Amino acid sequence: MMAPAATALGFELRVLAEGEDVSAVSAVANAPVGDYKDLDHLLEFSRGLDVLTFDHEHVPTAHLRSLIAAGVNVHPGPDALVNAQDKLVMRAAIDRLELPNPRWAAVANVADLVAFGEETGWPVVLKMPRGGYDGKGVRIVSSAEDAGGSADWFEAMSPLLAEAKVEFSRELSAMVARTPDGESRAWPVVHTIQVDGVCDEVIAPALDISLDVAAAAENAAIRIANELGVTGVMAVELFETPGVGAGFLINELAMRPHNTGHWTQDGSVTSQFEQHLRAILNLPLGATDLLGPVVVMKNFLGGANQDLFSAYPAALASEPAAKVHCYGKAVRPGRKIGHVNLVGTSAADVDSVRQRATTVADIIRNGRAHAGTSAPTPEETA
Ligand SMILES: Nc1ncnc2c1ncn2[C@@H]1O[C@H](COP(=O)(O)OP(=O)(O)O)[C@@H](O)[C@H]1O
Ligand SMILES: [Mg+2]
Repeated sequence: MMAPAATALGFELRVLAEGEDVSAVSAVANAPVGDYKDLDHLLEFSRGLDVLTFDHEHVPTAHLRSLIAAGVNVHPGPDALVNAQDKLVMRAAIDRLELPNPRWAAVANVADLVAFGEETGWPVVLKMPRGGYDGKGVRIVSSAEDAGGSADWFEAMSPLLAEAKVEFSRELSAMVARTPDGESRAWPVVHTIQVDGVCDEVIAPALDISLDVAAAAENAAIRIANELGVTGVMAVELFETPGVGAGFLINELAMRPHNTGHWTQDGSVTSQFEQHLRAILNLPLGATDLLGPVVVMKNFLGGANQDLFSAYPAALASEPAAKVHCYGKAVRPGRKIGHVNLVGTSAADVDSVRQRATTVADIIRNGRAHAGTSAPTPEETA
């Protein structure tokens, strides 16, 4: 998804692809296959690049340091990136910045987990600090009796991160971009809806949010970017907690274009992909204004329909204003394979905009015959 933005600006992308079949290979002409965990591959791949960046956070920190030592211009750098790679490092950093964290602790074993739950109350959210995504690596532990069921996780990784389960009204995302010279720009805070730990829908901006909370969340994101030395695009996932504390708590950081920013492709003057390129190249950042009063992004996961294009005639006819982004991935149940963006003409019509975007996504996901037509209400999904 960064390729169209690079092409428009005349930049050449080179992608280190994990395999011949990954989506990026069909989008970028220069896409050698290699292993991002292999330093020799990385060094060879990096030769002659103006800047090296990532579309996921799993490149080992030590490799990034070696690349920098070899003269590669890496953005975001390893000291910033580690806060998106490791949730324990991130929680400590948020405490250090005195920004609002849920109650948390590093827990080394089941006994620690039980002690944390007894102190903060059950349920507890237990997280793998590294390697998780889309809710994989997040588990709800409902009671002290239940805690023993997580012995397997402690064997796989220790310590783990334990957090109090937050009573939030909705989830939010504050996205910013920052250049190496320290220019930063934020998009308005958006409302994100997760289903089973996976981002399902985004509404930009977050409607009816308290102006104070929106400003504080945006400022928190900019402060995190500045203080941690973040370069490129960063998403700060938040829990909205009206009337409690600052009105929000920080969930996690992502240092790259993020699912909660896909709406910017069609709904903002500058997309997150273009902004990321500008930022890592230390160029002036683009305007982040919305192109309409409300923008909805609806993801579609792999479902019944294997032949996505067969559904295009019906899907595209159902909503001419919708923009379909299809990742060219093999269809597997529950796998993110695309999203739909739709810019609305009035914030008061948000329910209709959601419904129309959902209809397009459902038709593609399920095939014409099984298309669902009703979007969930905000109450059902918040
Ligand atoms: N402390 C918490 N309290 C309540 N819900 C949580 C908490 N932490 C995570 N969740 C829920 O689980 C989802 C995934 O957790 P997250 O830490 O963002 O993991 P991932 O890296 O998989 O995105 C969140 O979007 C939220 O819906
Ligand atoms: Mg998350």
